[in-house]
Amino acid sequence: MTKTLHAQIPATSANVGSGFDAVGIALTLYNDIYFTEEPGKDTITVEIEGLGANKLPKVFDENMVGQAMKAVAVKKRQALPKGGTLKLVNAIPPARGLGSSSAALVGGILLGDALTGSTMSRDEMLSLATVLEGHPDNVAPAIYGGLAVSVMVDGKTLTNSIPLDDELSFVTVSPEIEISTEEARKALPKTIDYQNAVFNVSRVSFLVSSLFTKQYDRIAYGLQDKLHVPYRLSLIPSGDLVLKKAVEAGALGATISGSGSTLIAFATGNEAAIMEAMINCFNDHGIEATGHVLKCSNEGAKLI
Ligand code: HSE
Repeated sequence: MTKTLHAQIPATSANVGSGFDAVGIALTLYNDIYFTEEPGKDTITVEIEGLGANKLPKVFDENMVGQAMKAVAVKKRQALPKGGTLKLVNAIPPARGLGSSSAALVGGILLGDALTGSTMSRDEMLSLATVLEGHPDNVAPAIYGGLAVSVMVDGKTLTNSIPLDDELSFVTVSPEIEISTEEARKALPKTIDYQNAVFNVSRVSFLVSSLFTKQYDRIAYGLQDKLHVPYRLSLIPSGDLVLKKAVEAGALGATISGSGSTLIAFATGNEAAIMEAMINCFNDHGIEATGHVLKCSNEGAKLI
């Protein structure tokens, strides 16, 4: 009987305001990836359903999931099956700052490992994913779940994952505008002022400690940032107004998700009104947008 492997990977919201390149949260929005081995066939067919189905590469070697599966096989000096079907069912909007690339890479690593003996620890998966993706704040929450705080030490990624409870909601609103991380990084300055660095150290410490101690009314201060948000907001038309509308509608705070274009609001109530206010504000400026009310996904990627 043919066996199908099924990996489920959460969306992520990287940076979380002041935690640029270090902090990320896994969210309860998932991409599902299936691999079915087909002995006798000598290629791997790629099928894609859901978001990005018309744009993402359907050639195994060109698709990020396939590339990550191959990277695992190369690292472990083992072979992947020659024939099969890889099916992607995507709910995470691509190129919107919700970790769609991370989900593809982490899913590919999970499947690649499962097809070659399931020997990799989550730490090993994280280090490989960081090399492939470039930023630990995006891949670490997808692997570990929760609020993931990462550092790079001697080329290895170390992550502390803190579970967050369901009292806290995350309202994500994604405008139709796609922003690549590369483009969003070009908007950043080469150097920053010393006082701004001190500002961010205090803010990110306050953010993590506020979340850890469940003092959610303090989140807004922890989200304040001087490293990337001020430079990137101009890439999201009317983004500054949408953030204001979120807070006026009852959000505890709001910022850019990852490198954008999604905006994320934190809330312990009024979620539907917050989402409506944010979407309406984009719409009023001629921009289509879709939203979700999510919780923190504390488990991380898994094989089901
Ligand atoms: N920390 C990264 C950035 C996340 O904001 O550029 C995107 O991969």
